[in-house]
Amino acid sequence: MKKFTCALGLLPLLCCLTVPSLAQDMPRLEKKDGRFALMVEGKPFLMLGAQINNSSSWASELPKVWPALEDMHVNTVEAPVYWETMEPEPGKFDFATVDLLVNGARKHHLHLVLLWFGTWKNGQAHYVPEWVKNNPQKYPREISSYGKVLDVLSPNSTNNLEADKHAFSALMRHVKEIDAAQHTVIMIQVENESGSIGSVRDFSATAQKEFDGQVPPDLTRSLHKENGTWSKVFGADADERFAAYSTAHYIGEVARAGKAEYPLPMYCNVWITYPVAALENRDHPSPGQEYPSGGPQQGNIAIWKAAAPSIDVLAPDFYSDNRDLYHAVIATYHRDDNALFIPETGRGANFGAFFFYALGHGAIGFSPFGVDYTGWWGGEHKVPETLSENYALLKPMAAELAQLNFDGKLQTAVEQRGMPRQRLHFGDVDAIVSFGFPQRDGETPPGTGDQHGRAIVAQLGPLEFLVTGFDASVSFSLRDTSGTPSPTEQIEILRADEGQYVDGSWQTSRIWNGDQTDRGLNFRGPNKSVVRILLHKLPLYDDSIRGRK
Ligand code: DGJ
Repeated sequence: MKKFTCALGLLPLLCCLTVPSLAQDMPRLEKKDGRFALMVEGKPFLMLGAQINNSSSWASELPKVWPALEDMHVNTVEAPVYWETMEPEPGKFDFATVDLLVNGARKHHLHLVLLWFGTWKNGQAHYVPEWVKNNPQKYPREISSYGKVLDVLSPNSTNNLEADKHAFSALMRHVKEIDAAQHTVIMIQVENESGSIGSVRDFSATAQKEFDGQVPPDLTRSLHKENGTWSKVFGADADERFAAYSTAHYIGEVARAGKAEYPLPMYCNVWITYPVAALENRDHPSPGQEYPSGGPQQGNIAIWKAAAPSIDVLAPDFYSDNRDLYHAVIATYHRDDNALFIPETGRGANFGAFFFYALGHGAIGFSPFGVDYTGWWGGEHKVPETLSENYALLKPMAAELAQLNFDGKLQTAVEQRGMPRQRLHFGDVDAIVSFGFPQRDGETPPGTGDQHGRAIVAQLGPLEFLVTGFDASVSFSLRDTSGTPSPTEQIEILRADEGQYVDGSWQTSRIWNGDQTDRGLNFRGPNKSVVRILLHKLPLYDDSIRGRK
């Protein structure tokens, strides 16, 4: 009896001890020395993702989804949850889709990112339930400057916001109920490519009244601007910035309500602004025409950060083959207050290299769009090759890569036109990456022709590196503090182990030497390899001989 009382007495203490560890294991974003990690089960996680097609979250389609994800070697699937299906009548919820996705993901050993197709989907309101579509008096639409009623819900309406918040909170409550112990679901996308198509902003009477008023002082303060009306503070951009604030505030409130139920990391994907064709005689795309006005596009990031603090990440979708534009977009969204995450990309050959580029800029994840065998993409029964070969190579060591990236030890080299050789700096050691074969002594490497060469180099110890790549050779040299080759020391290979991480421990399959290591570690041909290389330093000259001369 005494023992029993004692055990009961300990119970509150034990409960207290377990609560923080549960909270600690919640998927979350962490920041260290300016770098971000998506933490899953307490460890940095690299999301090798794919997004399924819009109408694929159905029992009839999912059997055609899982095999494609397997062929693609993903570790995470992004899949939509439709408001119209989840709340067919006000307040009556049907979570069958969510349950199908969660159970399917578990069965296929995948993590899951749920995409909330709520008020916005590609700048329109196509996924709102019928009872919302049918009742514009209660759930008002955006009105264009010339009075057109748009298929976009007004972000300036409290009824719209409350309806979305109510549904999204129910979703998050349900996810908590079914998944809090397992963490299959690791992130939530709140809405999809928000903003409005058809007008730069809402010109309804309610919205106009707000627009004629003062910019909220919290916003002017965080933007370091003087107080005033929207027109005074933002001049020619006032309409668009007003739309950005209205949309960000709305979505921020939706996310806040959802996090109150279950605080998973939440992000918004972005239909970014692409440059307009030069011949159109203007230098800017127009908001509400070429992109949804008021979304978290490049020019609206500061407003979104201020108005939607519950959104953890603003994440650009990228659908162009233009490398310079890709680099510019990465530079814009990779910020001290924003983790880099690419939640949608195209499927073309360039995207294989694009993934490496994002990884080298600290990306927490990457996800091409439309990966399933439902036949939407021309009926082809195959997954994008350059992307699946990336994932196949990296999936076994995704945890190690995520940790190395979070620790600032990982760099990538991605081939550029006219730049077949690149140098990565690791203190006094340089990794020299040369693209394309054959590579002859003293000659510039030939490049690959279509610039698909790419490599990862991560530092494991002062003179130990983890290296892999496609059509690249990687050699190492020493340099002094001024960046020139060391005048006194040289470096050579002690051993180069080809192998792979298996459940967190390295297993060597063979030692590379000879042709495989001459002029560098040669990642060439169809067999994709990962190598751990151990180097050592030795003097460049024997001074006793040199001094004799
Ligand atoms: C971007 C959207 O976010 C996706 O849902 C999908 O519509 C793709 N565009 C289609 O290419």
